[in-house]
Amino acid sequence: MKMTSDAPGLSALLPVWQRRVEDALDRWLPPATRLPARLHQAMRYATLSGGKRIRPVLVYATGLATDQPADTLDGAACAVELIHAYSLIHDDLPCMDDDDLRRGQPTCHRAFDEATAVLAGDALQALAFRVLAHDEALTGDAAARLDMVRVLAEAAGASGMVGGQAMDLDATGRELTVAELEAMHIHKTGALIRACVQLACRNRPGLDADTCRHLDHYAKCIGLAFQIRDDILDVEGETATLGKQAGADRALDKPTFPALLGLEAARARARELHDEALAALDGLGTAAQPLRDLAGYIIDRDR
Ligand code: IPE
Ligand code: IPE
Ligand code: MG
Ligand code: MG
Ligand code: MG
Repeated sequence: MKMTSDAPGLSALLPVWQRRVEDALDRWLPPATRLPARLHQAMRYATLSGGKRIRPVLVYATGLATDQPADTLDGAACAVELIHAYSLIHDDLPCMDDDDLRRGQPTCHRAFDEATAVLAGDALQALAFRVLAHDEALTGDAAARLDMVRVLAEAAGASGMVGGQAMDLDATGRELTVAELEAMHIHKTGALIRACVQLACRNRPGLDADTCRHLDHYAKCIGLAFQIRDDILDVEGETATLGKQAGADRALDKPTFPALLGLEAARARARELHDEALAALDGLGTAAQPLRDLAGYIIDRDR
């Protein structure tokens, strides 16, 4: 699909992009029958189980805004979703959030067993980097590809998502300041969301630095807003709609935006970040409309 500048809004593109990344993930994941089959089944179960695919959608929407064909971004879209799927498996383990329900189904360690879930997460993380190393449709040369590997590694590891998860565990049962809570959310969730935009920008050699900077600022804002909305949904959402247990944060005494500031202030902060994200896109034309819509979707979603 060649992306054009007279782009439709997100509602038309969302199912197209979701389907697109699911097809690509299906091709990259090991077949369920290949040995060790239980591991491969767990990897497929955790990845092809109906998430919203917001991160891949963000990769494609950034590609559209910067005039890139979608097929050059499949590798980046898969890589971020594989890291995300791994992070959810580990997040749900008894040693972390101890959750039984994910995407409306038993969590990976419940459907399989804990050891298989740990290994499936490990293998999904490795697969993410394999995809970036191998995917032939990525636009950039070897140096650009190496830079993409660096971006994803930093976003996934101790300086990003894993670091944020460590802050989350350390903060459980304690009251944080707003600044500490924002730092935790920026790491555990924001870093990978920001990487989606950074990867797409790096896939377009010669993209001007100002556009990259504005897109990066947009991504920082929606990354934090995404986790604030996740915290709000834990309070006001329904388990059946969320596909995960509502009220789980309070049960574990997790530091969250609603717990610290109340629901109204949490909503206001998400709205403020949404507005700041849109302002960052001011210089971009109609091809950035799906990015604008995505910012709205993130703070209004019900799952
Ligand atoms: C849930 O992410 C975990 C967080 C980082 C808040 P999503 O809400 O994107 O989960 P799926 O992929 O749609 O299931
Ligand atoms: C998880 O945050 C962030 C990750 C890095 C996976 P949460 O623990 O709030 O995510 P959910 O609510 O279980 O999806
Ligand atoms: Mg968690
Ligand atoms: Mg959790
Ligand atoms: Mg949550």
